[in-house]
Amino acid sequence: MQDETTLRTEALLAEKRVFKPSSQIVDQANINTEQYEQAIKYGEADPEGYWAEAAQELEWFRKWDRVLDDSDKPFYKWFVNGKCNIVHNALDRHINTENRNKTAILWEGEQGDVEQLTYYELYQQVNKFSNVLRSLGVHKGDRVAIYLPNIPEIAIAMLACAKIGAVHNVVYAGFSAAALKERIHGSAARIVVTADGSFRRGKLINLKKVVDEAVDGCDTVERVIVVKRAGESVDMSDKRNLWYHELMRDAATEATTEVMDAEDTLFMLYTSGTTAKPKGIVHVHGGYMVGIHRTLKWVFDIKPTDVYWCAADPGWITGHSYIVYAPLIAGTTTVMYDGHPAYPDAERMWKIIKKHGITILYTSPTTIRMLMSYGDELPRRNDLSSLRLLGSVGEPINPEAWMWYYENVGGQRCPIMDTWWQTETGMFIVTPVPASPLKPGSASKPFPGIQAEVIDKHGRAVPPGKGGLLAIKTPWPAMLRTLYNDRERYKETYWNIVPGYYIAGDVVTKDEDGYLWFQGRADDVINIAGHRISTAEIESVLVGHPAVAEAAAIGVPDAIRGELGKAFVILRQGQAGSDELAKELKQHIRRELGPIVVMGSIEFVESLPKTRSGKIMRRVLKARATGKDEGDLTTLAD
Ligand code: WTA
Repeated sequence: MQDETTLRTEALLAEKRVFKPSSQIVDQANINTEQYEQAIKYGEADPEGYWAEAAQELEWFRKWDRVLDDSDKPFYKWFVNGKCNIVHNALDRHINTENRNKTAILWEGEQGDVEQLTYYELYQQVNKFSNVLRSLGVHKGDRVAIYLPNIPEIAIAMLACAKIGAVHNVVYAGFSAAALKERIHGSAARIVVTADGSFRRGKLINLKKVVDEAVDGCDTVERVIVVKRAGESVDMSDKRNLWYHELMRDAATEATTEVMDAEDTLFMLYTSGTTAKPKGIVHVHGGYMVGIHRTLKWVFDIKPTDVYWCAADPGWITGHSYIVYAPLIAGTTTVMYDGHPAYPDAERMWKIIKKHGITILYTSPTTIRMLMSYGDELPRRNDLSSLRLLGSVGEPINPEAWMWYYENVGGQRCPIMDTWWQTETGMFIVTPVPASPLKPGSASKPFPGIQAEVIDKHGRAVPPGKGGLLAIKTPWPAMLRTLYNDRERYKETYWNIVPGYYIAGDVVTKDEDGYLWFQGRADDVINIAGHRISTAEIESVLVGHPAVAEAAAIGVPDAIRGELGKAFVILRQGQAGSDELAKELKQHIRRELGPIVVMGSIEFVESLPKTRSGKIMRRVLKARATGKDEGDLTTLAD
């Protein structure tokens, strides 16, 4: 399977196919070819002018004095002294326009239940929850942890925090109690918002139990607010517990929107780095709203009639930026689906598209490859003619999956926006627009206003066709501002690798036309089904098991998920390797880190390859496991 895929991929690459958009698409797009080229030039010549123009499309309580303050690099400030609130743009201002009664959130649950909230209804719910939070003593700057499934209440909770100036820290509801605990603790959250349960492949998962375990011993947590979603019986005996619906019942439907400085924190979101300790990425109100709005409007070409479905989870950056905030700012209908894409059968996604007349679908290569494995027939026998644009995110999309998506889902008429970006970047960085000629497998070019290059670790430009590091040369408004409580690590991780550049951690190749082809990570981060996992985190969990003395983890290729985890384990004296122990270790990882860490094999070894200073040489293990020389790719990671 693997080999066949590789061969087909190579054949497709050799064809060097370019798909030009139809003139109809180009003419009707929010930016056409000429405007796109002008925007690139404008963004290059006068980035501040270009971004200021983008900022003017939104409403501000007070205009900024300066667009960019770069006096304390890399702690850039955007829209200095500007006053705003992202929720004013995402909700408040729509209430006095024709969007008032338009569907803001169109939600479908795994069991087929559907809920719709208009902009006005969402506005009222957010106001109510803002009042609830205020009545519990939550103030501007306080942290609120959110551990909820993909239900409207997650958007309501996020927006309510933002409205009152509190900082949300959303933790993906697939994370384990230990991971949740670390993230609650790290942010010193005062409130945790969760639900009684969530459905996945028809199975009920009791989220409240996970939270109970996580908040045990977390003294900062004053309240746990529980949304009734699954009707699961939960233990509410702790004095800290409160039901969401009871709090909401009598809450007032009007609430003032906090006036925030453009640089005030909007949220923090943990992501994996190269060490076992996750990084708390910090985003702010002003620049973030400008960046995500401009990118969504141009890349996904939002029109008043669109029904836009980003099939990610709000627990990740993709959901923050492009399920919740940007679509609402753009005044579109954002679709949320709380369930597995192949439940109860592999037609589920196609049925959702047909049922709601979805016009834009944005999903991950893993999902595409999984649905592709069920054959062409399923998407083809559903009427998907409402679709006009497709998107991909989270990992490199192999040309074969791209072609399948293009032909069978998009009916050869929908351009595919392969968007490269990160939790840190907040917004799309390398991406086509609908007017771009597309090359299957390439994320195309930097978005207007972004100066990105391919360099080596000494900062030298890498010639076309050779692998190098993706480096961003100039700041952008939606960039992370720092790592929560760790300014030093922020500098070290992103800006000190090659001084003067933001180093993303990805390996990329540029072709003769300037198109960028992402190859994967250059560091010890692996990407399992679009989820960033730190190999150090897996290792640290493994050595926490009583049978394990030492461990090394790497990613190995997988035909569906892109990568799977693989671990090499040295056992403690007196322990013997067996299939049962390997199984137990996998379960241990799952329990400690959550089901997103999907492990392939676990191998028991006598020793691990190390450098003289004792660092595990993961690239040697990787080369051994994949049977190939990592060459270019790994020397970069040195
Ligand atoms: C990878 C997700 C290739 C990349 C938005 C990046 C991609 C990491 C793409 C960020 C893409 C994301 N092509 N690789 N279109 N999109 N990646 O922070 O390695 O969860 O550094 O943000 O995912 O993952 P994160």
